[in-house]
Amino acid sequence: MKMILGWTMGMLVAGGAFAQDTIDSGERARNEYRQFAIRTAGDAAQGRALFLAPEKTACAQCHTQDGRGGKAGPDLFAVGDKFGRKDLIEAVLNPSASIAVGYSASIIETKSGEEIQGVVKGVTDDTIQLIGADGALVEIQKVRILNQRISEVSLMPEGLHRMVSREEFANLIAYLASLRVSENADLMNRGMPATIESIKKPVVLRPFHSDALRFENPAWFGAVPGLPNAFLVLEHMLGKIWLLEKRQGAEDGKTLFLDLGPGIVQGGTRGLLGLAFHPRFHENHRYYVAVHRVVDGRVMTLTLERWASEDGLRDSGREGREILRIEAATNVHYGGGLVFGPDGFLYVGMGDTGPQEDPMGNAQNRLLLRGKIMRIDVDGVEEERAFRIPSDNPFVGVPGMRPEVWALGFREPWRFSFDAVTGDLWVGDVGQDLYEEVGIVRRGENHGWNVYEGFAPFSNLRRSPEAEYVAPVFAYSRKYGPSVTGGFVYRADPESSFNGVYIFGDYEKRIIWGLTQENRTLKKIRQIGVAPQRIVSFGIDASGELYVVGYEGTIYRIDLSDSVFE
Ligand code: HEC
Repeated sequence: MKMILGWTMGMLVAGGAFAQDTIDSGERARNEYRQFAIRTAGDAAQGRALFLAPEKTACAQCHTQDGRGGKAGPDLFAVGDKFGRKDLIEAVLNPSASIAVGYSASIIETKSGEEIQGVVKGVTDDTIQLIGADGALVEIQKVRILNQRISEVSLMPEGLHRMVSREEFANLIAYLASLRVSENADLMNRGMPATIESIKKPVVLRPFHSDALRFENPAWFGAVPGLPNAFLVLEHMLGKIWLLEKRQGAEDGKTLFLDLGPGIVQGGTRGLLGLAFHPRFHENHRYYVAVHRVVDGRVMTLTLERWASEDGLRDSGREGREILRIEAATNVHYGGGLVFGPDGFLYVGMGDTGPQEDPMGNAQNRLLLRGKIMRIDVDGVEEERAFRIPSDNPFVGVPGMRPEVWALGFREPWRFSFDAVTGDLWVGDVGQDLYEEVGIVRRGENHGWNVYEGFAPFSNLRRSPEAEYVAPVFAYSRKYGPSVTGGFVYRADPESSFNGVYIFGDYEKRIIWGLTQENRTLKKIRQIGVAPQRIVSFGIDASGELYVVGYEGTIYRIDLSDSVFE
């Protein structure tokens, strides 16, 4: 038996909208709708009525538009902030051309020959829940699954425009464009200014190496401790670690430090994502990497310990040691951040691992390491662990709580760092459909996801009356970008106007900001520059100077010397 949970063309034909078009005339019709909707403003109120009318369009079957979520497609309540008019038109005319992150359809083949298609909404140890195009939630026992893959085709069917006239299509687009979030909402006043000014003279991004040395999708950059001219660069997909050596008056060197490639899982945000040197690297040569591997058929975020050679210029080739292993629920938000704190302990960041909206409440679940920042002591082992739990961790001895956890309530902590002067832990946490946030995280705190996204309430499913949710210092809406990359507090030059400024950016929009705060309340935020490539990470060297890791292959040094933070 073959069952496709989902939209079938038959349903659409039954809906009465289809002629037997050839592909050519389909393209032509699409173009007609496209051109018409570009030219015609449309009436948002009428578009809303269409959106909600099941007999006219099927939109509301798969989308909420009021922030409730829970259907097969993304909630559209801020889609007008996310997309301009042209992109909105394409999203409806060509759903598969660009599939919203986390809303790809999974195709599951069962051992009994069924094929089930839908967007993953929940995963337990034994089951997977899919929501199909008909809006029905189906639970599948994992033991029944033969094969699971991600479809390249959106669950949103093509040809929906043909259920409406060109005029109606323009109205629908006008409605989507009107779905914006008010910038003046009270709760956002503190840390979400409606406009962000730029400094007069932007910082300059200077390529740190020749173009010939370009890296393949680098994800992390850092200085090798004790070696003033040696840096490591991690290649996300290939799993290679390169040594970049700056040589006075000579060509820079680029040599392979370690190839973790074989066996790492690639694709999406999986791969090789982070590295941290042991605080006593110069003595013990130990360093740690965050990497994804499939273990027993499941994607794991691993923290591995490895040894560098005596001279620190390459990996020693000795077998590494697995420190921590966290299983992913679905195919997003795998963490990837590793940083040693000023206390000598290793902080490990982990995302909620999906699915979108975290309906299972991973980030609030105290028994899981997902959606948390852990703090572990890698200088010893205890019980069945490859590390020790620091005795002053906040949840040691607390029933129903993992003792590794330092703080909870994160969606995908993408890059965190400690202020070298104050010791504050700064975290950039990637948001759902609306807000990106950066905040300062302290011992035992709950940073809110998925009860809050940025400053705004997100879901009450996991809200607990006892919990206190800590707000970010700053959050920004889609207008400024869809994916935050946390950075560093600049401390290289105490005389600089940037001294004490937290510098971070948006991956996709490539904007770099600087901000200051007091008691975790935003004081000042400025756009300080724009990077030539997508900002996947920031890096820091021994003197505290900052770098941008451009995902298209280039490391840039941030030159602040001609700019003023004012
Ligand atoms: C069968 C379910 C289904 C129906 C019906 C449907 N959609 Fe979708 N829609 C989805 C899914 C799943 C996605 C995410 C995958 C993608 O980007 O294609 C999506 C994505 C979108 C996006 C892009 C959102 C983003 O954040 O990237 C827009 C806009 C959209 N749909 C509008 C509509 C409109 C308007 C209608 C009605 C004409 C509609 N959809 C009908 C399932 C559906």
